[in-house]
Amino acid sequence: MRVPIIAGNWKMNNTISESLRLIDGIKKNKLNEEVEKVVAVPFTNLSEVKKVLEGTDIKLAAQNMHWENKGAYTGEVSPLMLKEIGVDYCIIGHSERRQYFNETDESVNKKIKSALKYNIKPILCVGETLEERENGEEETVVKEQVLKALEGVDKDDVKDMVIAYEPIWAIGTGKTASSDDANHMCGFIRKTVGEKYDKDTKLSIRIQYGGSVKPNTIKELMSKKEIDGALVGGASLVAEDFVKLVNF
Ligand code: PGA
Repeated sequence: MRVPIIAGNWKMNNTISESLRLIDGIKKNKLNEEVEKVVAVPFTNLSEVKKVLEGTDIKLAAQNMHWENKGAYTGEVSPLMLKEIGVDYCIIGHSERRQYFNETDESVNKKIKSALKYNIKPILCVGETLEERENGEEETVVKEQVLKALEGVDKDDVKDMVIAYEPIWAIGTGKTASSDDANHMCGFIRKTVGEKYDKDTKLSIRIQYGGSVKPNTIKELMSKKEIDGALVGGASLVAEDFVKLVNF
């Protein structure tokens, strides 16, 4: 059985003190123990958030990383640095990074391999634009993103990864994909992974849906067979909403 995974992607929100308040708000509640919970916080807040997560079963994620472990890359953060803080997951290839910071399938692939090498579990983001969906190209685009990201990645490592299907037109727009469309695309990603690897890998990898997930839409999404969790932006910034998402 795949363990459901709900991850909050805070993006560029929350100073350290705001982060601590948000975590405090979340910790005041009883959280579903059968769901894996993750908060993906800005680099500057990782160490402090790690401390206050001590004694909880909430996991910590970074939102990006460089693939090299050190060197002359001004402004970048390495997997070694994340590892020392105790980061469990790292979001890789989020569409905002692809769109605004020139991330390519090649850099995403390097980051995935590097994260796995340092035992940081990647949350790989893939998804099509509105134009691609309107042209009926969503499967072609997503398949290419998945296969390029996984080039040269070992079968045993893939099982630890999470893939988030996030149609770009649904991110931060209030428009979510219908639960059937989201389920279809998550199933399509699973099939793609199965074709590249094997049945076992296909059945173990967890696939999330992301894009305007809210407390009132999570239950329906999570009832779908292929959807193992959600990657949530906006709604993860409010403690009460994040708690509702986790306790769907
Ligand atoms: P959203 O963001 O929930 O605000 O649409 C999702 C994401 O970008 O991961």
